[in-house]
Amino acid sequence: MPLNHPKLVKLLRLAYSAEKAAAFAYIGHAASVRDPEAKAVIKQIELDEWGHRASVLAIMQQYEIPVSHYNEIKYHVIGRLISLSCHMIGWFMPYYFAGRLESGNVCEYFIMMRYFNELEITEHDEVLYEMGLKEKQHEVYFQQSIANSRLLPLFEKVFGWGVQRSLNDVDLEHPSPVQESNRYCRHRK
Ligand SMILES: [Fe+2]
Ligand SMILES: [Fe+2]
Repeated sequence: MPLNHPKLVKLLRLAYSAEKAAAFAYIGHAASVRDPEAKAVIKQIELDEWGHRASVLAIMQQYEIPVSHYNEIKYHVIGRLISLSCHMIGWFMPYYFAGRLESGNVCEYFIMMRYFNELEITEHDEVLYEMGLKEKQHEVYFQQSIANSRLLPLFEKVFGWGVQRSLNDVDLEHPSPVQESNRYCRHRK
C-alpha cells in the first residue's frame, strides 16, 4: 500500500539515512573518548541508532518506499566526516553537536507520527514514540555531559541549544502518553 503523503515519505527516507550518519558519528565519538564509562554509553547510543534505522526501514518496506541512494551516499560521507572530526576538535564539541542534533531528531519521530495520523494510520505510534523518547534520552545524556563546561554558555547563545534551551518540548521526566504525544513539536512544520 503506497503512502499518499509526500512530506512523510521524504521524512522517512531522510531519517533512514540520517540514522546511519549518526551511528557512524558515534563510532568515532566513542573511539575518541578515554573514559570507559562514557565509551560504553556512546557505544550503546550507536546501537540505538542502528536499531532506529532498522525500524524506519521496516516501516518503509511496508509501504514500498525505496531507500534514497542520494541520501545514503550523502549521509555516509557526513557520518564518516563527523566520525573523523571527533579526534581533532577536543572533547566538548562532539558532545555539544551530538546533543544539538539529537534535540532536533526527537521531533522527527513525533512529526512522522502526526503525518501518519493525518492518514488515519496509528499502527506505528508506539514505535515512533519509543524512538522519539530514546532520542530525548540521548539529548539529555549529552546535556548532562557538558553541563559544567565553561564553553557551554557561549555555545548555547550562538547555536541556540544547551542545558537551558532545547529544540523540542518533550519532558523526559513527565512524558505524555503515546495517544497524546502527537501534540509534541507543534512548533515544527
Ligand atoms: Fe536515532
Ligand atoms: Fe539518537
